[in-house]
Amino acid sequence: MHTLEDVDKNKLPKHVAVIMDGNGRWAKQRGKLRVFGHQNGVEAVRKTVENCAKLQIGFLTLYAFSTENWNRPKIEVETLMKLLVASLRKELDTLNKNNIQLNAIGNINSLPPKAQKELAEVISKTSKNTGMTLTLALSYGSREEIKTAVREISLKVKNNIISPENIDEAVINTHLYTHFLPDVDLLIRTSGEHRISNFLLWQIAYAELYFIDVFWPDFSEHHLVEAILNYQNRERRFGKTSEQLN
Ligand code: FPP
Repeated sequence: MHTLEDVDKNKLPKHVAVIMDGNGRWAKQRGKLRVFGHQNGVEAVRKTVENCAKLQIGFLTLYAFSTENWNRPKIEVETLMKLLVASLRKELDTLNKNNIQLNAIGNINSLPPKAQKELAEVISKTSKNTGMTLTLALSYGSREEIKTAVREISLKVKNNIISPENIDEAVINTHLYTHFLPDVDLLIRTSGEHRISNFLLWQIAYAELYFIDVFWPDFSEHHLVEAILNYQNRERRFGKTSEQLN
């Protein structure tokens, strides 16, 4: 089984994004309620953050709650929000000790006030950290993000702040929630589903996709290492030929 030491530090993905899927099925397999899966998912979040920081990954983005997740049963949504608040409170010191800066993307105003407050506090108290940037996608939906960006840019065109000819990819980037992040290099999805589920559609244009048949609460160091080793063995051509790269 591979460990963190087996990873080539010179070929690290700069930005890793994760669709943490399978908490519900993990719990069901054990005859427990879905929320039990989420509770155990938190431990996998902690380990993954810690391992990415140890590897000196620059940016880690986690899909913690999608815009579609609001449609889940009330008790499940409430539990997820409570877990978020409790985890933020509990992990602040660890984030600072590991020089990790926290950020959030998504429609943050739609979160319960308590979650917004806790999030703002941890973001502010880790803002000076210079190591890994950990971004939580909360009430996040990629189409909603793009719609919001289009609205903002349109308003600027209407008010003569920008002209349509000057709208390029860089301008679009600066209007996305992710304006402070580089493009995703490696996208991991757990649970065996092969879907993107409205996550970072613009930002994964050239990402390497890695799907693993393990439920999120079971995702551990060696799974992360396998994903990164697999990434390191791929040839990223960005539309060019192999010969051009060499
Ligand atoms: C997907 O499993 C997981 C989620 C919707 C939430 C992820 C949340 C956590 C891991 C815990 C809280 C997060 C933080 C950052 C503290 P699912 O419920 O869709 O599983 P299923 O597909 O088996 O039903």
